[in-house]
Amino acid sequence: MSEAQLQTNAAGHLSIGGYDAVTLATEFQTPLVVYDVAKIRQQIRDFKQVFNEENINYAVSYASKAFATIAMYQVVAQEGAHIDVVSGGELYTAMQADFPMADVSFHGNNKAYAELEMAVDAQVGAIIVDNFDELAMLTTILAAKDTRVNVMLRLTPGISAHTHEYDQTGQTDSKFGFDIESGQARQALDFVLANDRFQMRGIHAHIGSQIFEVTGFVAAAEKLVATIVEWRDAIGYEPEVINVGGGFGIRYTTDDDPIPASDFVKAIIQAVKQATATNHLAMPAIWIEPGRSIVGEAGYSLYTVGTRKVVPDLLPYINVDGGMGDNIRPALYQAKYEAILANNPQAPTTRKVRISGKYCESGDILVYEQDMPAVQTGDIIALLATGAYGYSMASNYNRNPRPAVVFIENGAAKVVVERETYADLVRLDRSYL
Ligand SMILES: Cc1ncc(COP(=O)(O)O)c(C=O)c1O
Repeated sequence: MSEAQLQTNAAGHLSIGGYDAVTLATEFQTPLVVYDVAKIRQQIRDFKQVFNEENINYAVSYASKAFATIAMYQVVAQEGAHIDVVSGGELYTAMQADFPMADVSFHGNNKAYAELEMAVDAQVGAIIVDNFDELAMLTTILAAKDTRVNVMLRLTPGISAHTHEYDQTGQTDSKFGFDIESGQARQALDFVLANDRFQMRGIHAHIGSQIFEVTGFVAAAEKLVATIVEWRDAIGYEPEVINVGGGFGIRYTTDDDPIPASDFVKAIIQAVKQATATNHLAMPAIWIEPGRSIVGEAGYSLYTVGTRKVVPDLLPYINVDGGMGDNIRPALYQAKYEAILANNPQAPTTRKVRISGKYCESGDILVYEQDMPAVQTGDIIALLATGAYGYSMASNYNRNPRPAVVFIENGAAKVVVERETYADLVRLDRSYL
């Protein structure tokens, strides 16, 4: 684990943003999702700084699927970043946070008619259009409402970054975007340019997630510029924005060795600068859509140890009071996390253990194998770097309430999502009698 993730206080407990993790567990109960807000702000600022230093027209658009709550949208707005939303629900949440709608991009491969209407009514900054059916729906909506909308086209650049299979979305055989090679992208462009209710702003590609190398981004940026060159040469059209998506890798465990997020941005800027200069194109604005890299390492999940199961010659199971309901990533795609004993992070490790959840699935394992100190019932375990795609994918499986979410900043803790109650669980149920 990195120094930044492991800070201990005078009591010898894990400290999260200056707040004692054991105190957090006592005050707010477990399982608990905790964010160190300073880290969120710093990540956004680091991205922005590179663009500012390079004097590039840009937008850092937080991919809010990673963690979408009113408080999070408020922090992003305070930092002057944009957001991506991928559903009416995320858009609604952003509206409740008074997020500036001009800084919202609406993504998704299957936006419903009602969601598109909602986005048009809200006058979002851009609808990132994914397919021809969506273009047809938008045409109808814009005519019916006698209005216009900014659009960008999501393209499939035929590039997939080297990462886990399920996370690859940039390859040609993808449910996302207009394919460049077969000419669909150009067809979509012609469609959009022929209707002045569409204000065509730019092109987009997202090549994958948890990426550790700049090469995929450089290739995608070059491909997007090459596409612009083709369009310029064919019909004299040049989009004003190149959006290279998100996917910047983070450190989940000591096995991960990510490069600084800013290095990705530097490489992307250089690639776009070079390719546009070579082809005598105006420098476009560059947009990025980091999700995981903004919230991942800022998040911690706190659990209380309940029962344990020790079997001779096998790894002992340490059962905690959460699991796949608050973090399905290990069960879903074998995501790796690192756990620490929050009430004594410096204790020497004694043996390898498996940390398992309380859900009725054998696959409900949070950490498959890790060295840990001796762990007792009642100990507090912190899982590190759980801020992305944990709470946002949480479920009520087994009718377990979802945890509370607490933001820590300047040594103060604030509940930003209440813990669900049993009453919440049956709120939408209706009697059949
Ligand atoms: C279009 C798009 N942009 C951005 C992201 C964010 O990716 P990450 O959280 O890995 O940065 C995703 C993730 O799925 C995405 O699909």
